[in-house]
Amino acid sequence: MAKVSASILACDQMRIGEQIVAAEKAGVDFLHVDIMDGVYVENLTFGPQTVRDIKRISNLPVSVHLELLHPERYLSMFSEVGADILTFQLDACNNPIHFLKEIKKTGMKAGVGIGPAYGVENLKYLLHYIDWLILMSVEPGYGGQTFEPSVYEKLNRTLELMEETGYRVPISVDGGVNDEIGRELVAAGADVLIAGSYIFKNDDFSGAIGRLKRL
Ligand code: DX5
Ligand code: ZN
Repeated sequence: MAKVSASILACDQMRIGEQIVAAEKAGVDFLHVDIMDGVYVENLTFGPQTVRDIKRISNLPVSVHLELLHPERYLSMFSEVGADILTFQLDACNNPIHFLKEIKKTGMKAGVGIGPAYGVENLKYLLHYIDWLILMSVEPGYGGQTFEPSVYEKLNRTLELMEETGYRVPISVDGGVNDEIGRELVAAGADVLIAGSYIFKNDDFSGAIGRLKRL
């Protein structure tokens, strides 16, 4: 069975708390919070206050996805508010091994995200430093984009690299995921399905979450 991470970017921002509670009741495994800076991507989204407030109303692990430049600057901000997993985009960080070690020192799990235009080959040198991996199947920046099938090839290669190195960490896929695509992703080896629009743009959150969880 797949684990499901609900991306709150697709929530109705005026009803975000109640929608998070509904997603938790429906059985999601993680909450995914995209932090965008208007520089690395055009969009602007949430900040540490969002994470702090989520932790007051939900017991779910909060997975923070930094889609911004200079991710190192935001480490203490997110560890102080209780983020459980901190993922940064590999191409936005000059010294990823150093930063991964710094994240772990705070007690958070450390993750890297790889955009659809970038390869996974560098994971060979990173797998033993990471706890979490996000393969992005859309360009960072917006919810509701079309899924890029090139992620399947990257999933395969990532599994090979994990086999070769002996380090297996959960593989998440982020962007454009629905139940049909989710089924293929799970068959291809994905462990966590990150979904925003498919869950929160559906009137029946619980049905959508249930369909993903059963994959
Ligand atoms: C894109 C974000 C994704 C996004 C997924 O920048 O990283 O997490 O919210 O949304 P959907 O599922 O709508 O593609
Ligand atoms: Zn994301």
